[in-house]
Amino acid sequence: MTPIRRSAAMIAAAVATVGALAAVTAEVRAHGDVTPQPVDITGLEPIKEGWAQENPYRDNAAAVKIGASGYNQNCARCHGLEAISGGLAPDLRFLEKGKTGDDWFMERVRKGATINGVTKMPAFDGIMSQEAMWAIRSYLESRHEG
Ligand code: HEC
Repeated sequence: MTPIRRSAAMIAAAVATVGALAAVTAEVRAHGDVTPQPVDITGLEPIKEGWAQENPYRDNAAAVKIGASGYNQNCARCHGLEAISGGLAPDLRFLEKGKTGDDWFMERVRKGATINGVTKMPAFDGIMSQEAMWAIRSYLESRHEG
């Protein structure tokens, strides 16, 4: 190998290293931000008018499956994988079942939680469809404890 070719190889290696570092940094950032992930609701009956007063998909197997995926992509990083909280945010398996739990669930999911000016949980209103929110609720009820 001539010196010139060696240095070209070294530059290539250096570029590759910088590239790898940049990729790692981008990934770390992606985990920390709150970019919502789209939820595919194919298979769910669309909700036509306004907001449902309680979960229209309760105990609906298709909704539980869609909700599991929506949950894992949008909620798990704070509320824990499979809804088992690691302590960062409340354990959603203990949310009350039925309409009372539905009300509280929707309140939080739509508005998020800002405490002393700090956003602890992002608002999902206008970002995630109502269908996707209820599907996540169905999933959480399927994981209910307590
Ligand atoms: C950035 C972190 C974060 C993300 C992402 C997040 N949450 Fe939260 N969530 C929190 C925190 C922190 C609280 C507690 C707020 C408080 O102290 O009132 C909370 C509270 C809640 C509550 C109320 C729980 C209770 O026991 O009162 C519900 C319901 C909830 N989140 C649902 C969700 C759902 C569903 C998603 C995904 C669509 C989600 N959250 C995404 C951090 C998050």
